[in-house]
Amino acid sequence: MPGEITNELTRATGSVDAPALSEERAGAPETAELAAQNEAFQRRGGPAEEVLRFVAERYTPDVVLACSFGAEDCLLVDMLSRVAAAIGIFYLDTQLLFPETYATLHRLEERYGVHPMRVVPDQDVDAQAETYGPALWERQPDLCCQLRKVQPLRRALAGQRAWITGIRREQAPTRANAPFVTWDDKFGLVKANPLAAWTNQDVWRYVHAHDVPYNPLHDQGFPSIGCWPCTRAVRVGEDPRSGRWSGREKTECGLHQ
Ligand code: ADX
Ligand code: SF4
Repeated sequence: MPGEITNELTRATGSVDAPALSEERAGAPETAELAAQNEAFQRRGGPAEEVLRFVAERYTPDVVLACSFGAEDCLLVDMLSRVAAAIGIFYLDTQLLFPETYATLHRLEERYGVHPMRVVPDQDVDAQAETYGPALWERQPDLCCQLRKVQPLRRALAGQRAWITGIRREQAPTRANAPFVTWDDKFGLVKANPLAAWTNQDVWRYVHAHDVPYNPLHDQGFPSIGCWPCTRAVRVGEDPRSGRWSGREKTECGLHQ
């Protein structure tokens, strides 16, 4: 059963070394304050838990974690359970995720007692095939991502003031300058990337230290996991994201670019 993003969010524990923030201005981008906060995080090496506390304290109950069940997001679920337990979690169910990904969702639910909200596209895969023809991902992957990821994300973020993602600078040249907190122009709310400065090694050190459940595909050559038609295992030495939309120019699905 899909969960619901709870509105009964408790205050996160602890505090952050944040500069004085001006009074809330509904709908305003707050770019100056966010830039100052981002620089403060940058000077301190990007402490992930502090970034989480910052968004929790400032945006609760209107902040959500976007969870793809990759290792980064699984560890963020763990971290949230300790520093901001009531923040809502959602996942974009493209209905083309690997069985292992759905299994990871269930393991996280059991372990942390969370119930990520399931967000689906307007059309299921069969209806999409009737409208656009079969296997749209093979012919027009940008349109397919738009329909199955970007539009549903827009719905998931409606009414929220901030979202949290697992992106890291190291993952791709397109993410090399990812800030810790910023105004997301594309979706019109604040975006927090607590793991922006983390390396792959940092991720796995945390996952193993805290015994975080993770997608078993990571142990089978899948460093980055998306929909099954567009994700393959990579060989040793290959770019970790080369298994996504392999053989195509496409490198991003539109959630972050
Ligand atoms: S993607 O844009 O290429 O698909 P990637 O798989 O690297 O993104 O994931 C980066 C971040 O985007 C994740 O840490 C997560 O916050 C968000 N994300 C990606 N896919 C999903 C999804 N299916 N549901 C929710 N969030 C997602
Ligand atoms: Fe479609 Fe592939 Fe994008 Fe998934 S990753 S939404 S299957 S194009």
